[in-house]
Order: sequence, then structure tokens, then C-alpha cells
Amino acid sequence: MKKRSEPFLKNRHRQLLLLVKDDWFKLLLATVCMMIMSASTAATAYLIKPALDDVFINKDARMLILIPGAVLIVYFLRCLGMFGQQYLMSYVGQDIIRQLRNRLYNRIQDLPLSFFQQEKTGVLMSRITYDVNIIRNMVSNAVTGSLRDCFTIIGLVFVIFYQIWELALFAFLVLPIAFYPIVIFGRKVRKYSSGCQETMADMSAFLHETFAGNKIVKAFGMESYEKKRFFKKTMRLFRLEMKEVRIRSLSSPVMEMLGGFGVAFVIFYGGSNVISGKYSTGTFVSFLAAVIMLYEPIKKLSKLNNTMQRGLAATDRVFDIIETKTDIEEPADPLIIPCGPHSVAFDNVSFKYDEKQVLENIRLKAGAGEVIALVGMSGGGKTTLVNLIPRFFDACRGAVRIDGLDIRKASIKSLRDQIAIVTQEPILFNDTIRNNIAYGNLKSSVEQIESVAKSAYADDFIRSFPKGYETNIGELGGRLSGGEKQRLCIARALLKNAPILILDEATSALDTESEMLVQKALENLMKGRTTFVIAHRLSTIAYADRIVVVAGGKIIEEGTHEELMSIKGEYHKLHGMQFVNGKAMDR
Ligand SMILES: Nc1ncnc2c1ncn2[C@@H]1O[C@H](COP(=O)(O)OP(=O)(O)OP(=O)(O)O)[C@@H](O)[C@H]1O
Ligand SMILES: [Mg+2]
Repeated sequence: MKKRSEPFLKNRHRQLLLLVKDDWFKLLLATVCMMIMSASTAATAYLIKPALDDVFINKDARMLILIPGAVLIVYFLRCLGMFGQQYLMSYVGQDIIRQLRNRLYNRIQDLPLSFFQQEKTGVLMSRITYDVNIIRNMVSNAVTGSLRDCFTIIGLVFVIFYQIWELALFAFLVLPIAFYPIVIFGRKVRKYSSGCQETMADMSAFLHETFAGNKIVKAFGMESYEKKRFFKKTMRLFRLEMKEVRIRSLSSPVMEMLGGFGVAFVIFYGGSNVISGKYSTGTFVSFLAAVIMLYEPIKKLSKLNNTMQRGLAATDRVFDIIETKTDIEEPADPLIIPCGPHSVAFDNVSFKYDEKQVLENIRLKAGAGEVIALVGMSGGGKTTLVNLIPRFFDACRGAVRIDGLDIRKASIKSLRDQIAIVTQEPILFNDTIRNNIAYGNLKSSVEQIESVAKSAYADDFIRSFPKGYETNIGELGGRLSGGEKQRLCIARALLKNAPILILDEATSALDTESEMLVQKALENLMKGRTTFVIAHRLSTIAYADRIVVVAGGKIIEEGTHEELMSIKGEYHKLHGMQFVNGKAMDR
């Protein structure tokens, strides 16, 4: 919960209002419709006086025609206003939802990798689907509803002052009391609504995990465990929602009761004056009707306030993401890295995640076209090291240089254009195999795509599918083997044909039959490129010009296979571990 001392209209709320800028004309029309509706309510209250006094008491036949006619006109205008307001405000609301979703996605896509490591996918999804909807609800119902109610209140106040001013004054003394519970209920609703939104996000993250990782759930027989965990979450959400519902359900009756007191008093006081002959019956009934009608919009205002509070809580959640600062920024005057072979150098680079030192004083240079193998125990910092090259993260001290240029001075796009990456986990999208290979190079020709698939030893298995290259990855479900997925990723990197290559060799997910094929595919990929390969297999290391041993965030050994074997250090030990009884092991 945010502290109450903050100003009501924060910058983010102003930005939210700015979203309706393009729809100002529709908003204006809607406002006119609202005013028509409000005026018609006031007119109805006013018309009661001539209806009673002229038609019923004075029995004026002319008025018998005129007043029902006026009532019809008033109701026609009212219905017209109702339709216009409803339609136009929904339009503006839907447009806001669309813009807000786009803005969120736009922002999230541009945030650095570290953001995605901190936030759960499900939580982000719930921001875009659920929270945005609550905001729309606030804008199209609450904001406009409250505008309409304010207009109505103004119109009715006019009528009551016109009819009996001293009684109107009394109603005004009661009004502030009516607003008090609105404020109290609003605060509570905002608090519970925050809780609901958080629980919803948590649930969404949970669903994402247990569906995506369902294989493990089944393998470990955790179905009933996960079910129980889910039931607990729905129960928690249920309880929170009910707390909110309690407050919301309470707000109407409380307002109603206050209204009852007001009406009772008016009847008592006004009635005694009608009996004494001070007011006409029509004046009094018209006044009473206006007072009764007045309590309706005030009551609604209290409900709308609840919607507002929910919406404001959602606004905070959404804008927390929109306003997230990115630490990987495009330089003010970016230099373009040209195409062609490049050298890559780590110039005394240190890096830490938050407080955890992961890399220390790394000095390493790969000449153009050189293949460097990074080896070392798990958790030594190899993946972190290569993540600095495409600026997934920035070095804390020192600099990564391409052809001597600090990469932070280059345009991020031109930098990443020079780099092809095959990650430790193969990542494919729910699209055709063709588009997955062409990802990042969507304009590639059929020949180009098939040629890289051949070089990646993927063409054969792709053709074995009935739809070949047009097969959708999603349709295949989990049918692709680990090696097949990797070869698709290798084909994608080959198609990019970038001079710098980063290869985080997968240690897992490889079946023996495809191990050879992946190896051959990698050879094709590394040819003539400045390559950093995180190698777990000896067969990969054999192609390296130099081997670098990374442990505890430092480079502890560097050299060729023979050199490193002869000093009998860490590499010698690692090498020994991969050989058992003179036979090479896969991993
Ligand atoms: N986002 C992160 N936040 C904090 N610490 C992290 C983060 N990512 C990695 N680390 C830590 O940094 C260290 C180096 O991780 P890294 O992934 O670079 O190791 P690695 O050498 O690639 O290991 P492996 O061979 O298992 O892939 C590890 O101790 C890891 O726990
Ligand atoms: Mg790694």
C-alpha cells in the first residue's frame, strides 16, 4: 500500500488521462450526452410540480396534454443520451485498454534481461490481461459515471433550491455526512483490491509454471500436491474477494439508511408546512422527489469510488512496470559497428549481480576468426561472461571492446546484428519451422533457409514431417528431440551469418544419436567466425584455437590443449573427469 500522504493525482494518473487525448471529441460528445441525461433527471423532478398542482389539483385540461408531452420529450432525450454515453465511453475505454496493453508490451520487450530474471512470466501476463481490464473499468465506468452523477447532482440541487431553499440548505448539511462513509469504504476497497490483484498475479505465475513444467509434475507424481497448492491459492483469493465484497455490499445500505433519515426529516418538516399552507403540494412533492433522486447519484458515487480505488491500485501495478528504469541504454550518440570480422576483447572486466561478485578482472582477447573455448566447473561464470558481449548485462568495471571500441558506445542494434547466439536451452517459438529458422531474418529465401537447415543437419528430420518446413512447432508439442531442437537453433544462427558467434553448449537434452550431428552442425557454424564456445564436450574443444578455464569468476588458465595438459592444473583435472577408463564421456 502506498502512503496516504501522497498527492491524489500522481504523474502516472495524469499519464493515464493523457491516453484519452486522441479520443477527446468522443469524450466531449459523451459529456454532452451525460449532461442531457442529468438535465432530464432534473427536468423530471421539476415537472412533478406542474403535474400535481395544475393537472391533479387545479384540473387544467390544457396541461393534461402539455405535461405528458413534455415528459415524453424529456424521456426521449434521456434515452438518446443514455445510448450515446454508453457507446462512446465504452469506445474510449476499449481504446485505453488497447493503448495501455501496447505500452506495457512495448516497455516490457525493451527491458533488459535482468528484468525477466526477476519477474515471473505469469505475473507479467496478469498485468497485461487482468490489471489493464480493471483500469478500463475505472476509466469508462467510474470516471464517466462520476461525471454524470456530478452533473445530475448539480441539476437536482438547482431544482431543490428553486422549490424550497431553506429545506435545501438542510439537505446540504446532511451531504458531508454522506460523503464520510464513501471515503472510509474507498480506502478499504483499495487495500483489499491490491491484495486481490497480487494474488491473481501469483496464481497466473503458478499456472504458467505448472502447465509448462507439467512433465516434471507428472514424473515426480506431484499432481495432488500441485492441486492442493492451487486450491489454497483460490481459497486465498476467495477470502480476499469476499472481504472486498463485504465492504462493497455494505456501502449501499449505509448510504440508503442515511438517505432514509434525510427523507423522513423532509417529509416531517415539509409536510407540516404544507398543512399550515406555506408550500403548495406540488412544490413540496417536487422538492421531495428531487431529494430522493439526489441520494441516488450520491449512493452511486460511493460505489464508483470503490471502482476507482480498485483501478488506482491496478494503475500503480501497471505503471510500476512502465516506469521501470532500464540500465542497458542506447548511448546518446551511438556508433555503428560495421559488418565484417571482429576482434572481441574483455578489458579488465568485473561484474556483479546485485551484491554478488561473479566476474573479476577478466582479461581476454579473441582475434577475428579465432575460436575460444570456455571451460570450467558449473557456476564459474561462463554464461555470465558471454552475456556481456551482446550487452544482456553491462560490466560493472572495465569494458568489453569490439575492434577496440567500448560496446557501450555502439548502437545496441548494430552490436547485436554482429552476434549470433545459440543458448544453453534451445528456445523455439509457436510458429512454423521455417519462421523459427528465419527468426530475425524473415526476408530470407526458401533456398537460404533450406541450405542452412542442411548445414545444421536439420533438413532430413524436417522433411520427415508431413508439412515439412511449414510444420508448426506447437503442433509438434513435445515431439522434437533435444538434439533436433538444438539443430534448429543452430540453423537459425547460421542463417544470421554474423561474424561473432556465442555458443553456450547444452550439457543436457542430447541423445547419443544426435550428438554427432550436433557436433558436425557446430563445426559448420564456427567456421571463420570469432567464436566463444562454452564447451562441455572434448570434441568441441578440439576445434578451439585457445582454451580458457574459468573458475570462481576468474580466468585461471589459458592456452592450447597440450599446454594446459602439461601444467597439470584445473584443466588437467577437468579433462581427467571426462575420461573414465580411457573412454570419453559425453558430459
Ligand atoms: N541473475 C542472476 N542473479 C544473481 N546471481 C546469478 C544470476 N545469474 C547467475 N548468477 C550466479 O552467477 C554465478 C555464475 O553463473 P553462470 O551462469 O555464469 O555460470 P556458468 O559458468 O555458466 O555455469 P554452467 O556451466 O552451469 O552453465 C553462479 O553462482 C550463479 O548462481
Ligand atoms: Mg552456463
